[in-house]
Amino acid sequence: MADGPRHPAPVTHISLVRPDDWHVHLRDGAMLAAVVPDTARRFARAIVMPNLDPPVRTVAEALAYRARILSALPAGASFQPLMTLFLTEAMRPHEIARAHAAKAVLAVKYYPAGATTHAAQGVRDLTRCYPVLAAMERLDVPLLLHGEVTDPAVDAFDREAVFLERHLLPLTRAFPGLRMVLEHITTRAAVEFVSASPDTLAATITAHHLLLDRNAMFTGGLRPHHYCLPLLKRAHHRAALVAAATGGSRKFFLGTDSAPHPRHAKESSCGCAGIYTAHAALELYAEVFEGAHALDRLEGFASCNGPDFYRLPRNQDRVTLIKEPWQVPSTKAAGADVFVPLRAGEVVAWRLAD
Ligand code: DOR
Ligand code: ZN
Repeated sequence: MADGPRHPAPVTHISLVRPDDWHVHLRDGAMLAAVVPDTARRFARAIVMPNLDPPVRTVAEALAYRARILSALPAGASFQPLMTLFLTEAMRPHEIARAHAAKAVLAVKYYPAGATTHAAQGVRDLTRCYPVLAAMERLDVPLLLHGEVTDPAVDAFDREAVFLERHLLPLTRAFPGLRMVLEHITTRAAVEFVSASPDTLAATITAHHLLLDRNAMFTGGLRPHHYCLPLLKRAHHRAALVAAATGGSRKFFLGTDSAPHPRHAKESSCGCAGIYTAHAALELYAEVFEGAHALDRLEGFASCNGPDFYRLPRNQDRVTLIKEPWQVPSTKAAGADVFVPLRAGEVVAWRLAD
């Protein structure tokens, strides 16, 4: 045989400790019933966002929502929803004590008022929440951040970067012991901020921000199904996110931000933000890691870094991904509505083994 460069055989199967989704929107009612099987099939646990209408503001509401999620699960599923509370300026520290006592409520989510879907009751002045944040720091309840400013004077593509300086830096100084997750990061600045911060600060990264840059919103026309918040950014930001996710740092972990909306609410003169990815979540991340020649690091990102940050045990069972292309359906049904998954009508390279 002639000597020459040797290429390792392409990987066709990956076995991973079962992953968790550290940021997902499961909604309620018919939409909940439509989406929860996709998440439960892939993930053992998921942090469920509280931006229902009205939002989930109390432990009692979170436990009632958890019960609705459990009753929407397919028979035999062993999926565990991890609940969050929606931070408002009216929240009182005793609610944090209740959350701390309720094992099923894991964290509190900060939305700037009006930043996104059902966030009208979000926070206008974070200093009004300082007594609650102090209770969270004391009881070690993590704060999950939608890290964008809503100041209309700030360019829509700069809202995350401005949040870092204007809000996150003061927050880390005021509450050095408060554990925080900067959710769905989209910029090089966020990667650098999180990397340079103490281990109390981590970040989730979505599959869509790893796969798409902002051109995807305008390919041949306006693409509402690629509209999410924070917005997709320039290609160099996407490259920084891929480097962070695949680079082996334990500060970055999987959070899909899968966020379904009925098709009519996306294809509208004022369309909703959100991309549905739960139907192919792990498979899409595998594409990213394969593209970065880092499939060996997918397990750390998807299955280890999240539970380690939240101080929960890693999962015991495993899942297998197979390199076998499949076509995503053009729509999925939710009661009388339909919604459009990412890659609708197109191909995903990896398939989750049954
Ligand atoms: O794109 C998004 N969709 N970003 C968010 O912050 C919220 C989410 C939703 O709930 O639709
Ligand atoms: Zn979200």
